[in-house]
Amino acid sequence: MTVNWEEIEKTATGWIINAGENIRNSLTDQLTILTKSNPNDLVTNKDKEIEKFFKKKIKEYFPTHFLLGEEGFGDSIEKVDGVVWVLDPIDGTMNFVHQKRNFAISLGVYENGIGMFGIIYDVLHNELYTAKKGQGAFFNNQPIPKLKPIKIEEAIIALNSIWLTPNKRLNHHKLSDLVQKVRGSRSYGSAALEFAYVATQRLDAYITPRLSPWDYAAGKILIEEVGGVCTTLSGNPLTILENSSVLVCNESIFNEVLTEYIEEK
Ligand code: IPD
Ligand code: CA
Ligand code: CA
Ligand code: CA
Repeated sequence: MTVNWEEIEKTATGWIINAGENIRNSLTDQLTILTKSNPNDLVTNKDKEIEKFFKKKIKEYFPTHFLLGEEGFGDSIEKVDGVVWVLDPIDGTMNFVHQKRNFAISLGVYENGIGMFGIIYDVLHNELYTAKKGQGAFFNNQPIPKLKPIKIEEAIIALNSIWLTPNKRLNHHKLSDLVQKVRGSRSYGSAALEFAYVATQRLDAYITPRLSPWDYAAGKILIEEVGGVCTTLSGNPLTILENSSVLVCNESIFNEVLTEYIEEK
C-alpha cells in the first residue's frame, strides 16, 4: 500500500482548522460538562463532538486507517500496525472550561509506530504548529529553526506544581532543586502547547510523570524535527500504545536534567 502523506496531511489540516473554527464560534454556548476519573477530570460535549467529527471523516476518506482518541470513539488499538491517527480533540479541557484559552487540538499520525506528521492547533490564537517526519517543523507555515543550545541556569521549564509536593511518581525534592536551578518555571495546562513551546524555544523543557499517547503523539514529532529530545522520565522511548511519563527537552540540557534532577519511583 502506498500512502500519499502529502494528501493526508493537507486533508487533516483542513479538518483541524474547521474543528477549531467550530470551537471558536461556540465559545459563548452553554457547555455540558461531565467528570471522568475524578471531579477535576473534565470532559465537555465539545471534546466528544470534535472526536466524533474526526471519526466520521477518517472512516469516510481513509477507511483502512485507525483512530486512537481520548474520548473513546475511535478504535481500540493493541498494536502499532498500519496508519493510526492519534487525536486529542481538546488538550487542556480544564483551561477550555475555566479560561476559554490555552487549549489545543492535537493530532499525530503514525505508520507502523513511526510518527509521520503532527499538528497542534492553538485554537484561540489561531496558531498552527506542524511537523513532517524528516522535513522539519513549521509555525503558521513558516519553518521553525533548530533549537539553539542553552545553559541550564538560563532555562525556563514547564511543570505542574503538584509534582513539587510529595507524590508516588517521582522524587519531588530533586525536582524542586531543578526549579531552583533554572531561570523560571511555568505551567500552561496543555501538554500539546507545552511541547509546541519547547519546539519554538519559548520553553526549554517540559516535565510530567503522567501523559497519554494523544497528549504527546503530535508533540513528539514536532520536537524531534527541531532537534529536541523527548523520552520517558527514565530516558526510554515513548510509544503510542501506553501511558507514560514524559521529558521534552532542549538537547543541550537533556542529560543534566535527566540524570541530576529526575528520579522516577
Ligand atoms: C491534560 C492536559 C494537562 C496534563 C494532563 C492531560 P486533557 O489533557 O494536557 O496539561 O497535565 O495530564 O491529561 O485531559 O485536557 O486533554
Ligand atoms: Ca481529558
Ligand atoms: Ca490531553
Ligand atoms: Ca483531551
